[in-house]
Amino acid sequence: MGKSIAIFNQKGGVGKTTTNINLAACLAMKGIKVLVLDIDPQGNTTSGLGVSKRGLEKTSYDLLVEDNIDPASTILQTIIPGLDIIPASVDLAAAEIELVQLEGRERRLKNALDKVRGDYDYIFIDCPPSLGLLTVNALCAANSVLIPLQCEYFALEGLSQLIRTIRALRKNLNPALAMEGILFTMYDGRTNLTYAVVNEVKAHFADKVYRTVIPRNVRLSEAPSHGKPIYYYDKYARGAESYAALSREFLERSDG
Ligand SMILES: Nc1ncnc2c1ncn2[C@@H]1O[C@H](COP(=O)(O)OP(=O)(O)O)[C@@H](O)[C@H]1O
Ligand SMILES: [Mg+2]
Repeated sequence: MGKSIAIFNQKGGVGKTTTNINLAACLAMKGIKVLVLDIDPQGNTTSGLGVSKRGLEKTSYDLLVEDNIDPASTILQTIIPGLDIIPASVDLAAAEIELVQLEGRERRLKNALDKVRGDYDYIFIDCPPSLGLLTVNALCAANSVLIPLQCEYFALEGLSQLIRTIRALRKNLNPALAMEGILFTMYDGRTNLTYAVVNEVKAHFADKVYRTVIPRNVRLSEAPSHGKPIYYYDKYARGAESYAALSREFLERSDG
């Protein structure tokens, strides 16, 4: 059965989508079956994987809102063999509100995903930067949470809020929700602040912090405009090597 991982941080611009696209692509390139689920109304994962947001027949919006939907009808193949996607559309912004009145509103994503879990090794859910019902659905459907963190002062404040959210979720909706790992993104090892933030986070989450860090790398920010993961855009970029290293560490931890 596929393991589902929510890529979550309520803060925007910390590297959730970049991590989702590139970790998923690196795993698929190893022959692992991966599904990416985009539930951010911005749909950056969708376009970053080369899927046009226009004229999509079924999206994660339908998956969440329609009763008795066949999840397979929302799945598309990407240009990367072995990597499938359930794309997002702008309708998703409305789903946040529509969900409120629907039956089992927190578990709709989980119920739908459970029907396709058997077809994948890993399912990554790209969360929006909020704590609304879309995110709650993601955290209910997930076996674990992967947290991208930018090394800045406010990251620490954000992290304690985030941990409180995960605790509340475990208590009320998904007791088995595990911490997959914390990933430092846009890392610049030259600053004292980076050093201080990394030490602080390691003091609290020791073995949950990935050894691999993702450096700030302009090629990583260019790749999505070409609709490609970094490896397909510039396999010699530092960002490509770092996400390849992350995928190895991810598998090491996942197996152990
Ligand atoms: N390691 C990195 N180096 C340089 N730019 C990055 C890196 N990671 C992400 N970015 C850029 O930063 C912005 C925010 O990243 P994104 O992955 O979209 O964050 P989120 O999904 O958390 O909002 C995007 O423009 C992205 O291309
Ligand atoms: Mg994003």
